[in-house]
Amino acid sequence: MLEIRDIKTSYGKIAALKGVSLDIRDGGLTCLLGPNGAGKTTLIWTIAGILKAQSGSIKMGGDELAGLKAHQIVEKGVVTVPENRLVFPEMTVTDNLIAGAFSRRKEKGGVSEDLEAVLERFPRLRERATQEAGTLSGGEQQMLAVGRALMARPKILLMDEPSTGLAPIIVEEIFEIIGQLRDEGRTIFLVEQNANLALDYADHFYLLEQGQVTFGGDPGEVDHDELIARAYLGARKAS
Ligand SMILES: Nc1ncnc2c1ncn2[C@@H]1O[C@H](COP(=O)(O)OP(=O)(O)OP(=O)(O)O)[C@@H](O)[C@H]1O
Ligand SMILES: [Mg+2]
Repeated sequence: MLEIRDIKTSYGKIAALKGVSLDIRDGGLTCLLGPNGAGKTTLIWTIAGILKAQSGSIKMGGDELAGLKAHQIVEKGVVTVPENRLVFPEMTVTDNLIAGAFSRRKEKGGVSEDLEAVLERFPRLRERATQEAGTLSGGEQQMLAVGRALMARPKILLMDEPSTGLAPIIVEEIFEIIGQLRDEGRTIFLVEQNANLALDYADHFYLLEQGQVTFGGDPGEVDHDELIARAYLGARKAS
C-alpha cells in the first residue's frame, strides 16, 4: 500500500531520519516502535508532507507522494491522527468532525452521513456533540481526533502515539477502537510507546532507533519482552 524507501529528513544539520525503508501493508495494522527521539514523529510528518524529505521515495500504488504538499497527500487518502490529538479546542465536537471532511473536494456529498456514522461509532462524542472540544477528557479528544480523520475517508490512517497521557483503562478503550478499525480492513500505521499493547494488535512491526529501522517482523515471531527492552531501554542483545 505504502512503500517507503531510503527516506532522509533533517532539521537543519540534525539528521533525524537516515534512510528509512519500510512497507505499510494493505488492510492491516503496521506498528512502529522505538525510543524517544528515534524519529517516529518525524517519519509521520514526512509521510504527511508537513516535513520535506531530503531524499527517498514514498509510493502509494504507482504514485510518488514524496514532494507533494500536505493537503495533496490528505486528498490522496493518507490522513494523520497527530500526537497530542490537536483538536480545535474552541470549536464544537461536531464542527471538529466536519472540519475533517474539508479535504474531500471531489466527494463533498455524504458528509452528514459520515458524521452520523462517526457519532454512531463514538456515542460519547454524540453526547458531547455541541460542547467545545477543549472541554473533553483526553480519551474523548483522542476519539475526536480519530473521528475527524475518518471524516476524510482515509485509505491509510497514520496514528502518532494515541495512548500518550491517557489512563490505562482509557488506553485499552482506544486500542479496542484501533482493533475495530483494523478488523474492518482499514490500513493503519501506528506509532506507539505502549509496545506491549501495540504488539498484541499489530500484524507487522518495525523498530526505529536513531533514525534507522533496525528490526522488523511479525509480532508472533519475536520475544516481546526482549523487543520491548530493546525499544525502550536501549538494551541490546549480548551477541
Ligand atoms: N523541530 C525540531 N528541530 C530540531 N530537531 C528536532 C525537531 N523535532 C525533532 N527533532 C529531533 O529529531 C529527532 C527525532 O525526533 P522525533 O520527534 O521524530 O522523535 P520521536 O521518535 O517521535 O520521539 P518521541 O517518542 O519522544 O515522540 C530527535 O533527536 C529530536 O530531538
Ligand atoms: Mg513522537
